[in-house]
Amino acid sequence: MTNLFGLFLSTFRRNERDVVNLYNTFSRLMQITAEGNMLNFGYWHDRTQNPLQAQYSLSNMMGDFASLHMASTLIDIGSGYSSPALQWNSRYKLLEIVCININFEQLKIAISISSKSSTIQKMNQSIISNPINNLRISNMFHLNATSTVLPIKSNSVDRVIAFESAQHFKPLNQFIKESNRVLKDKGLLVIAMPVITNSSNMISLPLFVKLGILSITWASEHYELEYIKSSVESNRFKIKDIKFIGSNVYQPLARYYIKNREKLKERICREYSQFLETILYKSLLKMNDASKRGIIDYILLKAEKI
Ligand SMILES: C[S@@+](CC[C@H](N)C(=O)[O-])C[C@H]1O[C@@H](n2cnc3c(N)ncnc32)[C@H](O)[C@@H]1O
Repeated sequence: MTNLFGLFLSTFRRNERDVVNLYNTFSRLMQITAEGNMLNFGYWHDRTQNPLQAQYSLSNMMGDFASLHMASTLIDIGSGYSSPALQWNSRYKLLEIVCININFEQLKIAISISSKSSTIQKMNQSIISNPINNLRISNMFHLNATSTVLPIKSNSVDRVIAFESAQHFKPLNQFIKESNRVLKDKGLLVIAMPVITNSSNMISLPLFVKLGILSITWASEHYELEYIKSSVESNRFKIKDIKFIGSNVYQPLARYYIKNREKLKERICREYSQFLETILYKSLLKMNDASKRGIIDYILLKAEKI
């Protein structure tokens, strides 16, 4: 059973160990809700029927947005169970994909999922700076490392992707600096993440109080859009595009949960307490409200190394 005290402590303290613990607790919850191995909110079109379809849409969108048809080397930082990387690998002719994750348990599962569709070989020459003790699964590598110290050679990759993970990176500025170091000239940094767009219309209280219960399911740093843009631009990047897709992310997901709550609750309560499901539900309602009021959004940001 989940240790709720530990959970609340992790939510507010949020060091790297806490982030690992939170995912060890919540990844399964996300898998139950979406019935798959992607760990993102997803993008809902008119005809999207469930969270898994939405997650694959968002992952596809990331591939297009990052122009992966023109890339050969890619690092995916905060790669979860490597499901997005597997999808990009099947869609594009990428020579090398490095999945980097701070969570070793997720990496082990990712390797077993990936190896079902490919053969494992010992690693040889690659963009990884220290190739000892890493396994290569066809053209995919899995590395246990943090976003702020990338074990990747300088000027070696075409794309750095952080797919719904940069909200955990601390300090964000150090991750962006590292991204600049590892990218080739004109290489692209592509980020998908939840952001705070407008906290000025809220009374002056600490942000976690303003977000209330949303802080539980959005257990990460709450970076403001302007801060992210200035960090990117001050680290020798030119922003090429920003898409705001929050209304296709939060509100349809909340609607889906409300409509299917009984079925989902039954599945969740087989592995988690009813109290936790109630927190999740209330947090989704808060997320819906914050999105409608324009307090939170979800961005896709693309920047070129200059
Ligand atoms: C919301 S999940 C997204 C996973 C994946 N991108 C997907 O869409 O399925 C965030 C991921 O970031 C990873 N993560 C969090 N902090 C990290 C850090 N500092 N360095 C590397 N990975 C990190 C977590 O372990 C988790 O796998």
